[in-house]
Amino acid sequence: MNNQILPNQNSAASKSVQVEEMFDSISPKYDLLNRIMTLGTDKGWRKKAIKMMEPYHPKTILDIATGTADFAIAALALQPEKVIGIDISTQMIEIGNQKIKKLNAHHIITLQAANSEAIPFENNYFDAITIGYGVRNFENLETGLQEIYRVLKPGGVLVILETSQPTSAWQKFCVSLYTTKIVPLIGRLISNNAIAYQYLIHSARNFPYGEAFVQILKQQNFKSTTCTPLLFGVSSIYFAVK
Ligand SMILES: C[S@@+](CC[C@H](N)C(=O)[O-])C[C@H]1O[C@@H](n2cnc3c(N)ncnc32)[C@H](O)[C@@H]1O
Repeated sequence: MNNQILPNQNSAASKSVQVEEMFDSISPKYDLLNRIMTLGTDKGWRKKAIKMMEPYHPKTILDIATGTADFAIAALALQPEKVIGIDISTQMIEIGNQKIKKLNAHHIITLQAANSEAIPFENNYFDAITIGYGVRNFENLETGLQEIYRVLKPGGVLVILETSQPTSAWQKFCVSLYTTKIVPLIGRLISNNAIAYQYLIHSARNFPYGEAFVQILKQQNFKSTTCTPLLFGVSSIYFAVK
């Protein structure tokens, strides 16, 4: 796809390969940068998303694009029997595994290298699926969502936390100022990789959000689909049921 937003528009490598390499390279600084750039709010947003799943009492949970496992770890609040995290970046998984070991949660959380567009589990396997800031990095969003639908049990819940955009003009202006000037600067100073953070901003700006993303989920047969905007809409939680 020529119109895809890629980490490196001049590279012939596929989006998946470029995204994997980019996250491998920023993995040691990812958590620190996340905390600084979201001013610490991202942890609370994952907690809020997890709380939305409470009434469903999921026992087997899949965290897609798990990265350093923050969502998988937050899911422990649901007292699940099993949480599996998948990601294409082995370096992000490596950091996630260190955190899980520190928490002594290896008996519940397992991380493995896998692509969301070919999920290595059978149909109707998981009670719930979480995805934090992952979907906009998929090479083929439709294939990824079809795979998610396939491995989710009927009646199972999907919660997606993803960047979105404010609706009011002045909020848009402030957020744009912050993301175009401050975020790449912090990204360059801390991770020494301004390009990665430019991609993250560029992909966020071009990804469907709000009602447009709700419609995409509905097209993939998800039901009871809602969008909850967070902090002027800079991120949103999408909730859906199979
Ligand atoms: C911005 S990080 C988010 C990490 C974590 N979920 C969080 O909430 O902080 C995005 C992650 O998605 C992973 N990723 C991107 N495309 C993927 C795919 N097709 N399948 C699995 N993981 C993917 C990247 O390797 C990266 O670790």
